[in-house]
Amino acid sequence: MANRVYNFSAGPAMLPTPVMQKIQAEFLDYQGLGASIVEISHRLPIFRKILDSAESLFRELTNLPNNYRVLFMHGGAQMQFSVVPLNLMNRNKHKGSYLITGRWGILAEKEAQRYGNTEILMDGKEYEYRQIPEFDTSTLDQESSYAHLTTNNTLYGTRWHSFPDTGSVPLAADATSDILSREMDYSQFGIVYAGFQKNLGISGTAIVIIREDLLGHALPETPKLLNYALFDEHHSIPNTINVFGVYVMHLVLEWVKEHGGVPEMEKLAEKKSGMLYDVLDHSDFYKAVAHPEHRSTMNVTFHFPEEKLLQKFLTESDNEGMFGLMGHAQVGGARASIYNAMPLEGVEALASFMKEFERKNG
Ligand SMILES: Cc1ncc(COP(=O)(O)O)c(C=O)c1O
Repeated sequence: MANRVYNFSAGPAMLPTPVMQKIQAEFLDYQGLGASIVEISHRLPIFRKILDSAESLFRELTNLPNNYRVLFMHGGAQMQFSVVPLNLMNRNKHKGSYLITGRWGILAEKEAQRYGNTEILMDGKEYEYRQIPEFDTSTLDQESSYAHLTTNNTLYGTRWHSFPDTGSVPLAADATSDILSREMDYSQFGIVYAGFQKNLGISGTAIVIIREDLLGHALPETPKLLNYALFDEHHSIPNTINVFGVYVMHLVLEWVKEHGGVPEMEKLAEKKSGMLYDVLDHSDFYKAVAHPEHRSTMNVTFHFPEEKLLQKFLTESDNEGMFGLMGHAQVGGARASIYNAMPLEGVEALASFMKEFERKNG
């Protein structure tokens, strides 16, 4: 088998090894077709079967209520920063309300300003985004077109443990970095979207889960390929879909199902992140970034007493086969991204490396 490192990259992130092996095995000849899945028409039944199966597996894994549609759209997660306002702004007061808990929320709000009014109802910047501030739901105008939040803050390693009740205002959530890692009641949301590149496969495409009454409100200037209603009407194929992205996602969803579904992913995520937080909580050397009450189970972030120790940590961990631990430039320090595909052994290896590094350098 290829020499694979434990890959702690924030995204694109590691895929389950059996998924990679299956892709490799059938890449030249997809199930006896004599051609690759990336060489045939996206309109052929053989691909349609994969697409339909991906959607139904996702529905099954998330217990998705029947009044929600599942769309696969180009452009990754950030494209949705434009697509959400383009499709929802037209409702009620032409106003998007934003709950900002980090960089991705900031960018989402900024993008929405192009299409209507926005308001920031909550912003964690006073805490340097190390925690999720209290949100007083009474400050939300019930005539707002939608309220937007980021479920898990990939850079800082914080997350909303539970979501605010926004009443009649549809809640739109960017779940790029924790989708399928925790049980979620989708009926709390109007829209949930996520780029594929962490828990769903490869980059460049996003899944959108949308309540059906929210379709059909797009602003007149909405480009054809950013219109939710059109994607729904054409079953996500208004033009050539990212065939390979959907194919890989389908394999990832099968893998999640084989491994006990979302409840098991959640248990594993708690166990893995718990091991790393335990190291941080028993250390006078490392300093955890996230407030203990708002910790992510997907991205564990921490600082070092000195910059040169961080550099040493990155070099030595790399030498030990642990890759991608550098934190985001805006936060500094280290970040271990431990999405669903990261095996427990990878986290065990990192936890013992961290203890040993502290012993030697503390
Ligand atoms: C929470 C969140 N939102 C959005 C993005 C941006 O995703 P994309 O590069 O697919 O636009 C990321 C990427 O890491 C993310 O973590």
